[in-house]
Amino acid sequence: MSKLLVANWKLNPNSIKEAEKLFLSASRITKRSKDVEVLICPPAPFIDRLNTTNIESKVKLGAQDCFWEEKGAYTGEVSAPMIKKLGASYVIIGHSERRKFQHETDEIINKKIKTALRSNLKVILCVGESINERKKGFEAAKNFIKSQLFKDLKDISNLQPPTSNLIVAYEPIWAIGTGKAAKPEDAIAMAKFIKSNVNSHGSNVKVLYGGSTDSRNLDGFIQHNEIYGALVGGASIKAEEFKKMIKITQKYV
Ligand code: PGA
Repeated sequence: MSKLLVANWKLNPNSIKEAEKLFLSASRITKRSKDVEVLICPPAPFIDRLNTTNIESKVKLGAQDCFWEEKGAYTGEVSAPMIKKLGASYVIIGHSERRKFQHETDEIINKKIKTALRSNLKVILCVGESINERKKGFEAAKNFIKSQLFKDLKDISNLQPPTSNLIVAYEPIWAIGTGKAAKPEDAIAMAKFIKSNVNSHGSNVKVLYGGSTDSRNLDGFIQHNEIYGALVGGASIKAEEFKKMIKITQKYV
């Protein structure tokens, strides 16, 4: 079973020194393997330096976002080709924190995915329902996710390279940073639902789960074939905790 463990460091840590320490701690126990990938997504200014630190290239690097244009008068933005050149092979797009704080719409996310795929980056698209949607029931949550997928992936199947470079992370907003992870059976049901929507276009998309994962609950999600791995926030910036999570993931080779 191949698996992917993703660290989303968000706006952490404060210095490149701390970032290197955290990175090396994960890198030391990561084996070079095509079956279990460990991907670290630091803040963009750290990617280049961590890429140099990554002597044996055991850990993959990714960005937490990219802009939809490749160049031009867009103050403050970072393009997909730029992060690719720094050493990133993945980019997270559509995280709920960007949807909330940067007011990213599905249309913006769609444009970003297209640019990232064209730049040969693998895309991790985040989708997830709010607590209000979830309170209406699981069917309502599914409908919400379906609508996000429909808008975020509009016209994507026509692209070259195709959607083999696309991964979807199911991240219910109510589970992010709250300590209340989804039930594995719900995450599995949602993973199946996501695949049934996306793969009807002939692709073979893989689904991650994200939202309050840690070393105590990770097994419950990734032991199932339906779940390709986890997108980890808070626990990924605790060196010992993330090491435990890498070891757990390595059991599933
Ligand atoms: P969390 O974050 O693990 O801290 O809940 C997950 C994410 O935001 O990707």
